[in-house]
Amino acid sequence: MFPRRRSLSRIFVILLIPLGLHFYLKSSWFAITDPLEIQENNVLDIVTGSGDLLDARKHKFLQVRIGRDERPDMFSDVISNGLLDYWARFQKPFISNADTSHMDAQSVLASVEQLLSLNGWVAAMCPTLTRPFSQNKHDTYDDLVQQRRLYYFAIVIHSADHFLVDQLAVIVQMARRLGSSSIFVSMLDYDSTDSTETLVDLCEAVLTLLGVPFRIRRVPRMTEDPAAAYYPLEEAHMRNLALEPLKELHQRRKIKFDRVIWLKGFTCPNDILENIKISLTNEAAVVCGMDWAEYSGFFIFSDRWRTRDINGDQFRQSKSSSKQDAAPPRDAIGALRYSKHLPFQVFCCESGTHVVDPAQSYYQGINYRTGTDYHNLSSVDGVPNRPPDAPCLDSSQTWFCRDLWIHQAREGVREVEAMDSRKPVNKRHLDQDRHPVDPNPPPIPVAERDSRHARRQHKEDLDANVGSDFDAMPDTDDGLAVVPTRRLSVPNSVFRPARILINPRCVTTYAGVSHAQLALDLFGPKKGEEEPSLPESGGGKYTLDDWEGAPESFVCQEQKSTGGRSATKTQRRLGFSIYEEVERLS
Ligand SMILES: *[C@@H]1O[C@H](CO)[C@@H](O)[C@H](O)[C@H]1NC(C)=O
Repeated sequence: MFPRRRSLSRIFVILLIPLGLHFYLKSSWFAITDPLEIQENNVLDIVTGSGDLLDARKHKFLQVRIGRDERPDMFSDVISNGLLDYWARFQKPFISNADTSHMDAQSVLASVEQLLSLNGWVAAMCPTLTRPFSQNKHDTYDDLVQQRRLYYFAIVIHSADHFLVDQLAVIVQMARRLGSSSIFVSMLDYDSTDSTETLVDLCEAVLTLLGVPFRIRRVPRMTEDPAAAYYPLEEAHMRNLALEPLKELHQRRKIKFDRVIWLKGFTCPNDILENIKISLTNEAAVVCGMDWAEYSGFFIFSDRWRTRDINGDQFRQSKSSSKQDAAPPRDAIGALRYSKHLPFQVFCCESGTHVVDPAQSYYQGINYRTGTDYHNLSSVDGVPNRPPDAPCLDSSQTWFCRDLWIHQAREGVREVEAMDSRKPVNKRHLDQDRHPVDPNPPPIPVAERDSRHARRQHKEDLDANVGSDFDAMPDTDDGLAVVPTRRLSVPNSVFRPARILINPRCVTTYAGVSHAQLALDLFGPKKGEEEPSLPESGGGKYTLDDWEGAPESFVCQEQKSTGGRSATKTQRRLGFSIYEEVERLS
């Protein structure tokens, strides 16, 4: 275990310096009209030209904290006395005039450095972890850095202080690699009750000093009573809030980000850079990592609520040491590519840190949403009457994925129509050889059954974001009843596919995981084997050549009633017709 107590006290001392300086800086800021929102370009901006679009030192609204929890607690007095004392005795006397300010900044930066390199922090171990193709030794990502793109980092924190500091360390490293004014950090604290508040103060101080643009925002719960909360709805709400600055920067300052990176749990900086690279070279809408949680002595793939392979099947809860025939993805191509550590296509994913192309999603008006006809156990209304093929009441991410598939299909259809209005639509990707259209396809099985209880008992906040394994359900193959349903009139394979990939080399983990062992399990040479070598042929390492269409049905794992994140989930196999969705929307 990490020497927590000692490092915590050291953090505390170091923390005082940036905070003191920060309050000093803040007091000298000019009053601006609405400091919390992104401002439109003013005449001066236009006259002086663009320069750095995200220059936080020039534009104060690029570093904003909203809704800090100011409620006093038992240490408030001690902390504020300590701060004032430190400020009065060790800082103020040495800040004599503007000339010395760069020295102060230097000493603070040195403190940040020291803070983030404390022994025991997971980020410090990253360069030593095993990765395939000797990636850690060879790939410097200089090409990526030279492209000078803009990246938006989004984090939702819900009582998850145990990896916030590591996430900060990762952000600092990313800022260093990509440049402070090439990134924007959006942190949303969703009513955390642990020490997130203090750690977010630390984040604010560090980001301010490094000149990294950010918005840190705390919001109250959507629903006061957790039993009356509908988790997918809360999830969608949090994510859309975390994306607000992205939209403001686009609308008011015409700033477009190239990629949005959702940090979840802990991911090494190089793995994030690799996910970005895979996202760019594949023009992918979403590239996920893989999420591994420790489970009775093993590491298991954990985000099974939101992940479906390209056949629409749920991933296996595989161990990190599993062979190919028991790999997390069930589809043959996915499993094969997984075993070679290559990116593979999926119907949906969120596992771990994931990279989203906003041009294919958020800038197209696609937001996070959920089903609405759930049963509110706290209201007087009865159980909603839902037909067997009612939309799936699953996570906001799976809704997002389906929206991406439908959007791509519509874009494809629109382009074909624009090219030649006389031709019938939907023929663009018709590929009868690879996807023969069976005139009488077998009925899609629809089944519904209650899931076994997959929840683990936690004493602390049941809704705490302790890794997405919290949502995990048991394997699904057993006991599925089969009910016939309509077949698709137009196969999904004729439509342009959404590009959603999983990169198995990007590992996301949680507190307490032995990172070195997990990395060895996943990528280490097996006994008597050489280290896996780089696959031959040009883009093979990064690019996928063949993109499949959407599955015609998927395992729908739904939360049909309120009751927070731990509410029971049920599942059925639900048909998915892109044609019907496209028709419905046009
Ligand atoms: C459920 O109903 C209660 C009581 O009417 C209400 O306060 C709560 O917001 C509802 N929850 C959701 C998620 O709609």
